[in-house]
Amino acid sequence: GQLLWHSTYQFFLGDRLCRYKNYNFVVGHATPEYIDSLQSFEIRDSDVFLVTYPKSGTIWAQQIIISIYELDGHVNKDSFNWQKMPWLEYKICEYALRPSPRLFTSHLPVHLMPPGLKDKKIVYLMRNPKDNVVSYYHFSKAFADLDTPKIAPSSFFDHFREWHSSRDQYNILFLTYEDMIMDLKGVVKKLSSFLGKNPTEAAIDQVVEKSKFATMKNNPKANYEQIPREKFSGKFLRKGQIGDWKNTLTVAQSERVDQILQEKLGDLSLKFIWE
Ligand code: A3P
Repeated sequence: GQLLWHSTYQFFLGDRLCRYKNYNFVVGHATPEYIDSLQSFEIRDSDVFLVTYPKSGTIWAQQIIISIYELDGHVNKDSFNWQKMPWLEYKICEYALRPSPRLFTSHLPVHLMPPGLKDKKIVYLMRNPKDNVVSYYHFSKAFADLDTPKIAPSSFFDHFREWHSSRDQYNILFLTYEDMIMDLKGVVKKLSSFLGKNPTEAAIDQVVEKSKFATMKNNPKANYEQIPREKFSGKFLRKGQIGDWKNTLTVAQSERVDQILQEKLGDLSLKFIWE
């Protein structure tokens, strides 16, 4: 059964990535069985899901959401951010036993998410695709479990397209990395009200302070530097800017991104901030 099942649905891309249901997951980080088990995952009204394509600023938005919930003492203060707001696709504990409100992070496409997300709070964060791919390039070079330039979980463009086309079915707040760079306080306010919170001005400032690049970089609970060097030799908090792609992509590569963006998402007339 196992063998047939594997050969039917799942195939490996190199040694480190496994493709399953249009989703590339890193071998050892998730399994098809677990991904399938999410179809019977019990959602609660108070659950929050932060969904991103990797390298869009996930750990930044994670820090903001955690800080907002910590204002009323809702999150365990002793643990790392990846424990406070774990990736749904990686099982770090028995999620059914977690007290509410449960905060989750995810890179999953819509079709692999648990059913019953309607009306639940979903935050979708995206970043301009040139900075995203450059950030991903640096990440994948430093990450021992990924072969450069292979990527998890799927195409940037398909990921956004699928989530964006579900926007009428779900309660999704769309944010961009560039919004966060240009107006962090504005984003903290927007997120707070989306999450049903009404923090004071001073509390908002506190969240902003905790979420700044320099603060996060020095916070071991937020900077992901506990990952052993042999697994990951880079920095999650690498540059933290808009426009670093200009230092990395050639003109031809940049034009290729423009072209794919046009082909894949051109009909949505998205306006990205590129620098
Ligand atoms: P760079 O590689 O361009 O520096 P993810 O969390 O999805 O893996 O995304 C990581 C990217 O978000 C990195 O981009 C990182 O520097 C950036 N980032 C994380 N926290 C940030 C913050 N507080 N301010 C600005 N950028 C941040």
